[in-house]
Amino acid sequence: MANKKRMLGLIGFVGAGALALGLSGCAGGGDAGNDTGDGGSGDELTTVGFVAVGPEGGWRDANEQAIKDAFTQEAGFDLKYAPAASPTDQKSQLDAFATFVNDEVDVILLTATEASGWEDSLDLAQEAEIPVILLDRGVDASDDLYVTRIAPDNVNVAGTVGEWAVETFPEGANYFTLEGVPGLSVVNERNEGFDAAIEGKDGWNKIGAQTANWTADEGKSVIETVLKENPDLQFIFAQNDEMGIGAAAAVTAAGLTPGTDVKIATIDGTTPALEALAAGELSFVAQYNPFFGDLAVQAVNDALAGEEVEKTIIVEGETFNSPEAAQAAIEEGKGF
Ligand code: AHR
Repeated sequence: MANKKRMLGLIGFVGAGALALGLSGCAGGGDAGNDTGDGGSGDELTTVGFVAVGPEGGWRDANEQAIKDAFTQEAGFDLKYAPAASPTDQKSQLDAFATFVNDEVDVILLTATEASGWEDSLDLAQEAEIPVILLDRGVDASDDLYVTRIAPDNVNVAGTVGEWAVETFPEGANYFTLEGVPGLSVVNERNEGFDAAIEGKDGWNKIGAQTANWTADEGKSVIETVLKENPDLQFIFAQNDEMGIGAAAAVTAAGLTPGTDVKIATIDGTTPALEALAAGELSFVAQYNPFFGDLAVQAVNDALAGEEVEKTIIVEGETFNSPEAAQAAIEEGKGF
């Protein structure tokens, strides 16, 4: 329930904003979010509205489960999970966000399916004195409108891919980039980090870049076409594991050997990617650590206590650069 101070603030806001909220409706009708608890009274629990992406791939599954595992009733939370209608559907997220404001949750967690289009929603939450915490993805809005963004440093993670590539190809390489869903902060940040690492290095020839929408199927089909037109392709930077695994399948289908004829580097660190690295199908995997439920709980508690919270909270990870390292990581349970 909203605190008394905010309740007083809300009365005016909900009156004024109700029309707008009525127009926006709710995600899938009724209250947004599925209680992940047993429906306790809620008076003593902190209500958390989680505007999520939903089923998308291995990384997303691990990250959203980590949030659910952290925001339990035992930990004092009533987590209302609201996945998007699809991983690229922003409207269902905007509707869920508005419903959470209208329902007077105590805090909103947001992993955005798109970087733009969030200003009005964030303004609504601010007027209602509901703190918003970004998970993983950034948004194109003033950072005055949210408490913090919790994520690995995408620029740095992609930079480790570029640094590995420069070491692996001292003469440079003909390369192609498989990008995630266009317009996302993480896509732009990963390009920035990789490009910075190879900047000024001789011999780096970018054949092209294309989105494969984070999926293996699209990664395979894009690289099948690229290989037909560019038989001298040497390296693929896949911005996530699924696209990299799809690219490896395309290399094999073309009668080539992934890891030898064409090297592939990916970001995330899922178990399938570590297995592919152990098998030599991938050559480098940079972990994009999904396990930051504890950091999110701390940020929520600090924000609600009125304490200072860093605008950016970086989640550390590691890299895997050989079959032996991948096998060891699997055995140590570092996959997901
Ligand atoms: O925003 C993080 C990215 O989204 C992950 O790297 C990718 O696997 C997911 O789809």
